[in-house]
Amino acid sequence: MSKIMYPREFFTEQWQVYQKVLDFDYMSHQGIYNCLTAILKSSFNRPITMLELGCGDASYTAKALSGLNIASYYGIDISPVALESANNNLHSLGCQVVLVEADFNPLGQQLSQEYLNSFDCILISFALHHLNLAQKDKFLAEVFDFLKPENGQLIVIDVMRREQENDLYAYLDRYLAHIRQDWTQITPEEYLLLESHISSSDFPEKVEEMIELGYKNKFNKVECLYVDPLETMATLSFWRTS
Ligand SMILES: C[S@@+](CC[C@H](N)C(=O)[O-])C[C@H]1O[C@@H](n2cnc3c(N)ncnc32)[C@H](O)[C@@H]1O
Repeated sequence: MSKIMYPREFFTEQWQVYQKVLDFDYMSHQGIYNCLTAILKSSFNRPITMLELGCGDASYTAKALSGLNIASYYGIDISPVALESANNNLHSLGCQVVLVEADFNPLGQQLSQEYLNSFDCILISFALHHLNLAQKDKFLAEVFDFLKPENGQLIVIDVMRREQENDLYAYLDRYLAHIRQDWTQITPEEYLLLESHISSSDFPEKVEEMIELGYKNKFNKVECLYVDPLETMATLSFWRTS
């Protein structure tokens, strides 16, 4: 029986496994982050103050933001290993970068009140699914208050359950089968670590549930901008507008 791999342990002790997932682009970061650049270009014609939650090594974020007008970048992650790489990767942005080792849940305990109403964009990529439904609900309520009241945008990139996947096990069966079949460079040992982490820590919702949760938490416009062909992941946009 392999050790249970909760997020802090997995992304600190086994970061090299996730690094391999990034290197082989198994979670389609390349395409998703190209879309992210396009989304930010069309959303903002002003310098962007940015907060990223669960930023990891920020390698794809740094590429997606290069060439955009970024006023400041604030990143939060629980993995010191990931943050060390993020520090190197974000140098090229040429703006003020603050990186904090912390748990983004609950957000109000990590970010001081001075950041209320202050971010143009809050990005959370492949990290929100670690919260259960009640925690996601509370998270959206908290995040809302840190966005600028006039056109602040939360962007959620994450794994999602299919419409017909009413329980988590259906999703887990499908996603783990996809990894076994398509992540061909993953060794059997690495698969066991991934399986242990995913089975204990992944709680994805359906796209429609996330949209409902957004409207429930006062967001004025919530849209799904992208779903991948395998229906494993989506990019969602939540606008705070007055
Ligand atoms: C799957 S990785 C995604 C990293 C990066 N955002 C990406 O898209 O490649 C999840 C990241 O979220 C971080 N994370 C997970 N739960 C967290 C929490 N509650 N607070 C802070 N960081 C968290 C992990 O340490 C890890 O770096």
